[in-house]
Amino acid sequence: MNAAAPSIPSTAPAVPAYPLLSGQKALVTGANSGIGRGVAMAMGQAGADVCVNYVDGDEAANAVVAELLGLGVKAFAYQADVSDEQQVAAMFRAAVTQFGTVDILVANAGLQRDAAFHQMTLAQWNTVIGVNLTGQFLCAREAVREFLRRGVVPTVSRAAGKIICMSSVHQEIPWAGHANYATSKGGIKLLMESLAQEVAQQRIRVNAIAPGAIRTPINTSAWNTPAAYRQLMTLVPYGRIGEPEDIARAAVWLASDQSDYVVGTTLFVDGGMTLYPGFATGG
Ligand code: BGC
Repeated sequence: MNAAAPSIPSTAPAVPAYPLLSGQKALVTGANSGIGRGVAMAMGQAGADVCVNYVDGDEAANAVVAELLGLGVKAFAYQADVSDEQQVAAMFRAAVTQFGTVDILVANAGLQRDAAFHQMTLAQWNTVIGVNLTGQFLCAREAVREFLRRGVVPTVSRAAGKIICMSSVHQEIPWAGHANYATSKGGIKLLMESLAQEVAQQRIRVNAIAPGAIRTPINTSAWNTPAAYRQLMTLVPYGRIGEPEDIARAAVWLASDQSDYVVGTTLFVDGGMTLYPGFATGG
């Protein structure tokens, strides 16, 4: 040990012996499939109660709820279109009624409506911006309102609340044929950062996860044949597709006090997709 080292007491949280999210209440949007489903389950495994938001697919949502209840946490499904202001407000009221509060929002709901730019309809544009970007605004706004109302409860978390915006590698990587989607994800980046800056003083932590290619229904055609998978792997230095659990583990960490000093960051969970893989051999 270096005797000269200054003895500044650490204010970083110790690793707790109990589940990372014990006693916390999470709301996960788009939680009946894909990444959202994985995140909802991981939140439950970490001890959080979970509101499982979905828009279509009651059966899948009820199945996630049943699995969560099996873990011994509370859970309920709530159908709401995240791009609809009234429905989002009603969903947060329901979560507060059921759980007492919301500590964690994972704004995950997202979709693609791909088209060549010259053929892209206004409906395709508006649907993607509405769900992926406006939906994050509406959900984050309700979450911030609840966090400000409640404030910090030190026995629950060091923060008054945590928001995790599900972004994409396409907040950085331009994507031909997907201008609406890439625009929505680029928007999430500055929405997240501006909000993080605005509410940090109130001890609300806002961060994002940028997944790469994850094995979910949104991108089935990118991995469900050997040829497609081989093609996809030319974009992924780590040499495998991501699984929803890869994102879910990152979300639990970002929601927990283990990441208490992480504010306004985008965590790329992409197997290196943003490392310009073409330059591994070229350039
Ligand atoms: C998209 C997927 C795509 C991945 C990597 C995601 O944000 O939704 O369709 O496979 O980015 O390009």
